[in-house]
Amino acid sequence: MTPSAKPRVLVTRALPEAGMARLFEHCDVTVFSNERQPTPEELHTLLHQHDALLCTLVDKIDRPLLEAARPKVVSNYAVGYDNIDIAAATELGIPVTNTPGVLTNATAEIAWALLMAVTRRIVEADLYVRDGKWTGWSPLMLLGTELAGKTLGIIGCGRIGLAVAKRAKAFEMNTLYYNRRRLDEATEREYGLTYAGLDALLAEADVISLHMPYSSESHHMINRDTFRAMKKTAFLINTARGSVVDEAALVEALRTGEIAGAGLDVFEAEPAVHPGLLTLPNVVLAPHLGSATLETRTKMAEIAVQNVLNVLKGELPVSLVNP
Ligand code: DGY
Repeated sequence: MTPSAKPRVLVTRALPEAGMARLFEHCDVTVFSNERQPTPEELHTLLHQHDALLCTLVDKIDRPLLEAARPKVVSNYAVGYDNIDIAAATELGIPVTNTPGVLTNATAEIAWALLMAVTRRIVEADLYVRDGKWTGWSPLMLLGTELAGKTLGIIGCGRIGLAVAKRAKAFEMNTLYYNRRRLDEATEREYGLTYAGLDALLAEADVISLHMPYSSESHHMINRDTFRAMKKTAFLINTARGSVVDEAALVEALRTGEIAGAGLDVFEAEPAVHPGLLTLPNVVLAPHLGSATLETRTKMAEIAVQNVLNVLKGELPVSLVNP
């Protein structure tokens, strides 16, 4: 590519520098902002002036935008791509790519961080100490739930679900899983997994961790009925997508003691959080930090950049999501 012929790439947010170097080298890059995502109007206007888009999971890439701007590639800086109208992109011949694989460990780790925090009441304990309420060791103070010997239920057992299961072995938990497709025997054995129907998993699990992608099928898959089917001592962990859970039903289940607690990294209307969740002590909240380590975010940038460069060079991207 000669300097004057450099393709113009719109990047909607500032990303780790090390991961972006190759894009700056080969393209004319506009980074929209470090502070906020573009509004739909800003995205429309800007995308018209660029050849390719590198966007994040909070940018809504819908049919009207794709039809109007016709980018050569939409490279999503996330493994999930429910923010993009894949059917429209495919119809228009626009490749859409994601960043799978590199955020598996980081996301499994945050699921475990939330799991440990809510079962051992770490946030409540931290506030207790800071508020000067701790007057001395006490046999009944802030009792939590032990994990060894308990049952973990994993719903959605792709890469991240498996990474969560792997860690459960070290905690001496029994792990059930529910997945659209049963895994092969060797994988089940390696990860210590037992396949279960959804009803059995809901009834038996002490902790339920969600790892399915968001789609019209998984919308509100966890709802009033499923909460009723869970143990009253069960904890729910969600690091998948907010809308796989009916948040209002979750608040009700937590309030009425239908379940014991929840650890949440994702929400239905991010960055808004159901006000009911903010007042409950048995919930640990994080602002969508699943992939938020410097290592992972850098690798995500490298893959997202590679995908853009490959398509612009007429090569196959490394992780295409169009069917
Ligand atoms: C993803 O990549 O889909 C994650 O939700 C990012 O944290």
